[in-house]
Order: sequence, then structure tokens, then C-alpha cells
Amino acid sequence: MEPEIAPLLLAWYDRHARALPWRAPPGAPPMDPYRVWLSEVMLQQTTVAAVRGYFERFTARWPTVEALAAAPKAEVMGEWAGLGYYARARNLVACARAVAERGGFPTTRDELARLPGIGAYTSAAIAAIAFGRAETVVDGNVERVVARLYAVETPLPGARRELARLAEGLTPEARPGDFAQAMMDLGATICTPRSPACGVCPLSGPCRARAAGIAAELPARMPRAPKPKREGIAWVAFDRRRVLLERRPPKGLLGGTLAFPSSGWDGSDQPPPLAADWREAGRVRHVFTHFELDMAVHVARSGGNPQRGEWHVLRDFDPAGLPGLMRKAWAVLA
Ligand code: ADE
Repeated sequence: MEPEIAPLLLAWYDRHARALPWRAPPGAPPMDPYRVWLSEVMLQQTTVAAVRGYFERFTARWPTVEALAAAPKAEVMGEWAGLGYYARARNLVACARAVAERGGFPTTRDELARLPGIGAYTSAAIAAIAFGRAETVVDGNVERVVARLYAVETPLPGARRELARLAEGLTPEARPGDFAQAMMDLGATICTPRSPACGVCPLSGPCRARAAGIAAELPARMPRAPKPKREGIAWVAFDRRRVLLERRPPKGLLGGTLAFPSSGWDGSDQPPPLAADWREAGRVRHVFTHFELDMAVHVARSGGNPQRGEWHVLRDFDPAGLPGLMRKAWAVLA
């Protein structure tokens, strides 16, 4: 283990830790594993700023893992709407039910990793933060900090294993959860991607990239291929103060969410949900992990029986319950 890095970082964390609703103060006993797990799942692919409100609404509504395990899946999907990556919400319910069934969260990384939706990152985070195990948590922030600290010039993603190994060498036996969160905070607030604030960094002494004057250039990255483009249509039908919505199939893009009937962009090739005088009200753009979408929003007033979907009374309809893409489609009509 590197002798001096962890104590330097922990001393900084003791003074500068971000106060976050899922986090115990530095040095204090950990937050309960339910809150640690929920926050780490929400924080996969989503920023701290976006997660805060969702975390507070979830824990107010379902204060324990048992409460979440007993919740209808559709209600959980509704609360998740807008956070994206909906497989996380489906796994969340499956995981809560598995944990409630076995009488609580397991406390080792290996056992945690066998639960639905808990991979290498999340199992390490829960084991370290909730159970004080000396596991190493490696996310994009940690990769950046470590690449700079050791001046690793190998580009990502090729450098991943090396960076993980170096991060492991830094992890202390004492306070591994605080250490993990200190690395994340350092990456988020000081060792930032573009203009790192090396002048106030607690690790600027030992940092090799800082010494070489290349901190802002690291980590190097292989150039990414541009995302392919796709087109599609969303149909928004109104009928006597009702709007047509469809529960999407459980697997696949936006799986399990309530949405406007749509076609094309997700590989499906379906006709409009009902015959009507459709007109294009506008277009929306949305970036998914593997493609960019340009979606036309078609609107019509119509009675009649739809081939798919169900009418929802507009008075009870809250667009906040839609996934982000469909909220954009709704905003086109406003
Ligand atoms: N990103 C992922 N997990 C986090 C945590 N526990 N604190 C701050 N940022 C995070």
C-alpha cells in the first residue's frame, strides 16, 4: 500500500466532504445499507444533482427495503421516471424483494454481487461504505484521480485494469468507505476533467501528472466513434380529455415505462395506434447510450378504439411520470 495517500485524502475529506442525503458524516457510523444501495444504484450513470430529489422522494415513500419490496412495480417505475436506464428500476424491485426475502443485505462484496442489478462497482461501494470492508470502488472519477496521481498515459479504456490495480493499492484497511467517497468527491470537485484545481488539491504533493504539468491532459482516451443516428415517431392521441398511453414491454429500450405509443427508433415497426388525421407537431432529439434519436411527434384528436395503449384521463395525467424522451415529446405540444 502507498504509505501517505490515504491519510492525506482522509484528512481532506474530514474537512471538505460533501453533505449528501445518503451519506454519514466523515468518521461517523455508516448509513443503513438500504440507503447506500439505493443511492449507488441511482448514481450509476446519473449525476449527484439529479439524484438528490429522487433519493429523497424514494426514501420518504419507501423508508425501508421491506417497504420497497412490497411496492407495486408500476409505482416504482413511476417514481423512477426521468432518471433513465430503466433496467435499473426493474432490478431495484427485484433486488429489494430478494433482500427482504433473505432478511437483510449480505455484508460481503461477493454475496452482494449475486443480487439483481449489483455489479462490480455497486458491490464494492456497498461493501466499503455500508459495511466498512476494504474493497476498492472504481468509477470514472477514481480512474481520473489515479491516472493523474501516477501519470498513467495509456489511453482509456485500455488503461482500466492498470488503474483499478493502482486504486486497489491505495485503499486503506481503516475507513475504506470514507476513502471511496473521498476519491469520488476529489474527482467531482477538485480533480475535475477539464481544469483541475491542483492549487488546492490535498494530493498535489505526490501527484506525478501535476509534477509533469500534464494533469489536465489525463486520462488520455481513444477517440470515440460517433453515435449512429435513428429516426422514429411518437403518436400523441387525445380523445375527450383523455390521452393515449402505453405500457412498454418489460425488456428493451425504456422497458416497463408508461409512454406514448411510438415506432421506428426502438427497432419496432408499428403503425399508428389508431386511424386519425395525424399531423406533425414538432421533433425531439434524445441521446441514448448507443445511438442518437430524432423523433417526430405526431398528434391527433380522435375517438375510436386504439389498437394498442389505453386512454388516461388528462386530469390525472402527470407528465413527470414519463421517461425523459416522452416528456420532451409532451413539451412539444405545450
Ligand atoms: N457517485 C457514486 N457514488 C457516490 C457517492 N457515494 N458519493 C458521491 N458521489 C457518488
